[in-house]
Amino acid sequence: MDILETVQPIETMLPDRYETMSIEEMEARVREIKEKLGAKLFIPGHHYQKDEVVQFSDSTGDSLQLAQVAARNKEAKYIVFCGVHFMAETADMLTTDEQIVILPDMRAGCSMADMADIEQTERAWKELQQLFGDTMLPLTYVNSTAAIKAFCGRNGGATVTSSNAKKMVKWAFTQKERILFLPDQHLGRNTAYDLGVPLEKMAVWDPHTDSLEYDGNMEDVQVILWKGHCSVHKNFTVKNIESVRRNHPDMNIIVHPECCYEVVTASDYAGSTKYIIDMIEKAPSGSKWAIGTEMNLVNRIIQQHPDKEIISLNPFMCPCLTMNRIDLPHLLWVLEATLRGEHVNVIEVDKKVTEEAVLALNRMLERV
Ligand code: 13P
Ligand code: SF4
Repeated sequence: MDILETVQPIETMLPDRYETMSIEEMEARVREIKEKLGAKLFIPGHHYQKDEVVQFSDSTGDSLQLAQVAARNKEAKYIVFCGVHFMAETADMLTTDEQIVILPDMRAGCSMADMADIEQTERAWKELQQLFGDTMLPLTYVNSTAAIKAFCGRNGGATVTSSNAKKMVKWAFTQKERILFLPDQHLGRNTAYDLGVPLEKMAVWDPHTDSLEYDGNMEDVQVILWKGHCSVHKNFTVKNIESVRRNHPDMNIIVHPECCYEVVTASDYAGSTKYIIDMIEKAPSGSKWAIGTEMNLVNRIIQQHPDKEIISLNPFMCPCLTMNRIDLPHLLWVLEATLRGEHVNVIEVDKKVTEEAVLALNRMLERV
């Protein structure tokens, strides 16, 4: 028999049958499979995931917590990652070769991570080296491709998350005079400003025109920000803040540092997803909050704190579309396939890329 005849075609898109199953049926089936696979299966879930998925997560966290959890887990054979593509890549790179990382829907990408590709980055680095020589250290937000993490790894740099960006930027300045911060200009600008770097010492690299946007003397540049952003957090504006201040003068405003500098400085508090959750958790009963972050999380926080008045900073905010691609039907589909011994939607990062990216990830994980 021809060997090819023995290979079963593997479905890459959600089979139709999941469209017609009831929610109860799907939930019962997921529960059953989790029970059958036991410790062989581990389901991490990011805080921005839908409730229908989060209810089955073995561990819920922000990107830092999920990276740490993935690095620690040595027993699960299957890691079904409920989050977006770059998070599943990170999990694959931090786990052993025997562990299999699965993303329930391969279309769950991240528009921010897509804003820096490796060719653009290599080109930028070359140009920037002409200007600044060997004075720069690259730092990348974990919201980036494995190839960008590898680029940082081989150039002495590291990854950061919104929870440890300050610590990592501080560390970077002990290594070199300047940093190149990819791909989120806002997290980079907000963090550097918080550490005392004035806006006048920050330049912006535009990967579409291959040019540096900066008006002053090149010698003064301390931070080069990649011109990328989060398409969710960019939707919080100073106008939203003015409206909350006008209509609810006693409300606290708390935002994620992926929001722009103007929004962060006009707010009362700014910090990572975990920081926002912890702040609301410890806030007194009856306190009032307008939150500027992803909507699945804001809705969950509202449900969990009926004793507090909580609204979204932007009343017309939607959840992150790519996070939302992971839903109950996709979760069930990959779990059923896993139980049958078929591996669909496996995330496997190239060996060489992994080696270099892990250098950047470990430089972060060692310091947090
Ligand atoms: P954190 O989980 O680091 O807060 O990041 C937010 C985010 O946008 C994840 O995609
Ligand atoms: Fe990417 Fe923003 Fe969605 Fe996070 S919230 S996955 S940064 S688009």
